[in-house]
Amino acid sequence: MAEAAAALARKGLRAHCRRLCCGEGSRGRWGFQSIHSFYRFCSTGMAFESINKPVVDRIIRVDHAGEYGANRIYAGQMAVLGRTSVGPVIRHMWDQEKEHLKKLNELMISYRVRPTILLPFWNITGFVLGAGTALLGKKGAMACTVAVEESISHHYNNQIRTLMEDDPEKYKELLQVIKKFRDEELEHHDIGLEHDAELAPAYSVLKNAIQIGCKAAIFLSERI
Ligand SMILES: [Fe+2]
Ligand SMILES: [Fe+2]
Repeated sequence: MAEAAAALARKGLRAHCRRLCCGEGSRGRWGFQSIHSFYRFCSTGMAFESINKPVVDRIIRVDHAGEYGANRIYAGQMAVLGRTSVGPVIRHMWDQEKEHLKKLNELMISYRVRPTILLPFWNITGFVLGAGTALLGKKGAMACTVAVEESISHHYNNQIRTLMEDDPEKYKELLQVIKKFRDEELEHHDIGLEHDAELAPAYSVLKNAIQIGCKAAIFLSERI
C-alpha cells in the first residue's frame, strides 16, 4: 500500500516535471518532442534549444564508449610497459584520456544520455588489446596507439562535420569539446609514429585489424 502510494507520488512528480520542463499539456504530449526538441532539464535547469536529441545521444554515447575503451587500452599498455622507457609517454596519453572520459561523464549527465550496454565488454577488450600489443614490445604498443587514434580522430571529424552542418551555434559546447579531443587524439597518433610504430611486426596487418575492430565498436556503441 505504502509502495503504491510512493509510486503514484513519483509518477505525479515526473508528470509535473514534464509539464514544467517540456511543455507537455500546453502543447500536447509531443509538442516539443519532435526530432529537433526543446529540452530544459529539471535537475540542472539547463536549456538546450532545438537540439537534435537522437543525434546528440548517439554522439555522446559513442564518444563515452570510445574514451572508456581508450582508458582501458592505456591501462593495459601501462600494466606491461609502465616501468620501461616509454612508461612516461604512455602515462601522458593516459592522463589526457582520463580527462576526456571525465568530461564525457559530465556530458552524459547534463544531456541525460545513457551509456552503451557494451561497457563491460569494452572494459575487457580494451585492456586485452592494450596489454596484448604491448607484449609485442614498445613498437607494438605504439602501432596500436596509431591505429586507434587515427580511427578516433577520423570519427571525431565526422561528428564535427555533422554538427557544423546542422548549426555551429547550437552545438557550440559539444563542438569545442570534440575539437579539443580530436586535436589531442591526433597528438597521440603522432607520438605513436615518433616512437617507431611503423617498425612494429606486421604493422599494416595489425593496424588494419585494429581499425576494423574500432569501426565495429563505433557502429555498435552508437546503437546499443
Ligand atoms: Fe581520448
Ligand atoms: Fe587518445
